[in-house]
Amino acid sequence: MANQANDTMDKLVSLCKRRGFIFQSSEIYGGINSCYDYGPMGIELKKNIKELWWKAMVYERDDVEGLDASILMHPRVWEASGHVEGFTDPMIDCRETKARYREDQLLVYVPKSGDGPMYAFPEGDPEYITKKLKKARVDVGDYDIRPLSGIPVEQYARVIGPDTTVAGTLTEPRLFNLMFKTFMGPVESDANIVFLRPETAQGIYVNFHNVREAARQKLPFGIAQIGKAFRNEITPGNFVFRMREFEQMEMQYFVKPGEDERFFEYWKQERLAWYERLGIRRENLQFHQHGEGELAHYAKAAFDIQFKFPFGWSEIEGIHNRTDFDLVRHQEFSRKNLQYFDQDAGEKYIPYVVETSTGVDRLLLTALADAYEEEAERVVLRFSPAVAPMKAAILPLVKKDGMAETAQNIVKGLRKHFRVFYDESGAVGRRYRRQDEIGTPYCFTVDGQTMEDGSVTVRERDSMAQERISQDQIMNYLVDRVM
Ligand code: GAP
Repeated sequence: MANQANDTMDKLVSLCKRRGFIFQSSEIYGGINSCYDYGPMGIELKKNIKELWWKAMVYERDDVEGLDASILMHPRVWEASGHVEGFTDPMIDCRETKARYREDQLLVYVPKSGDGPMYAFPEGDPEYITKKLKKARVDVGDYDIRPLSGIPVEQYARVIGPDTTVAGTLTEPRLFNLMFKTFMGPVESDANIVFLRPETAQGIYVNFHNVREAARQKLPFGIAQIGKAFRNEITPGNFVFRMREFEQMEMQYFVKPGEDERFFEYWKQERLAWYERLGIRRENLQFHQHGEGELAHYAKAAFDIQFKFPFGWSEIEGIHNRTDFDLVRHQEFSRKNLQYFDQDAGEKYIPYVVETSTGVDRLLLTALADAYEEEAERVVLRFSPAVAPMKAAILPLVKKDGMAETAQNIVKGLRKHFRVFYDESGAVGRRYRRQDEIGTPYCFTVDGQTMEDGSVTVRERDSMAQERISQDQIMNYLVDRVM
């Protein structure tokens, strides 16, 4: 399973580079860990995902408004939000291999007998440890699995780290703040420290009254935002799944206290339904409820929507009941009144917030992983047409007899409305395969018959079925299927 997962991820990474979805950042310098650049196909896919989210969250509703807040904010924001104090991960180093781990991502095989070595391994990678245990001639039946956080530090001398065979090389966990810091202005002093935002949500809270007044909204209503966020992750990885610079799509829904649980349930269902609209297979989606120890410092309740990645079920979106935590704290730290006057109820209160928060990059990986399929003769990305980077390809069968000119004229007409691709090089079968690999749902081929009767061949990506339609019908054909 683990090897097959690596294999699928390797194939996805290689397809992404080959076909211009995603490149390693600063590749010619050897790359920079966990930062990525989006190529011509990647940027289209990303844009489509963002537009579909914005459409569902803002355009199709009248109770959610848009915002684009700045990345750098007043440093007090991050004290109020609890991030300066609490946005930390417990970091553990291996003194021997210099490998670095997050304590909360390590599990240990603990001998039932009570003594002997304990074997630590990264969560979600059981096969990796099974091999190691086999080598050490250990019978897993004699062991219990426990989180490393449950092992007292005094017993670390007995723990064998994931990448070593020696016991006692792991350091005590140290709390590490995930926010990137920089300086505002020319003086590099503590007084001038600013943070790169680790979530976009705070830009929304501090603008709560601005947006509400300007848009003349009453509770319940929400504010949506798409923008970059930065986290100095201890263990980034799995391609664009966990990055240090990434993009979030967040919506904060402000409600009357007491109505939070109802809206929490409502948004859970709304958001799950959106993934299905995006064409993600339902069997690859599930909810995961956060237990007590998992809850973020601001949350009263939290559900993740998880996707079944090649490397296992993992979070793609968090839905959080943040209560009045953030607004109360901002009121306290800014000394500005952030209460809402409820005219209908004739009372003032600080609203509760239900948050939906997802990552663009992670959704892009979700769309890719869900769509990826290997068939005997081709690799195909079965994107839903709305997500596909290219909506159609226009292909002249050969470059002579006016076919190229006719095809280019078709492209010219379509380009005003759709992102389409023109390709005249190579055998038409190979051109179809190239489009399959980037997930283009329809190919229109101009051939000898087009020159006689104006009809073209349409080839559908998934079934590879072909039919002929009049070239005048292409626009309507696409409007019906890809919008
Ligand atoms: N405002 C709440 C918040 O930020 P989160 O669960 O920490 O909650 C929400 O993050 C979403 O942001 C995640 O579900 C994921 O899609 C995305 N995300 C978080 N950290 C990420 C990272 N290092 N790389 C890529 N995406 C990330």
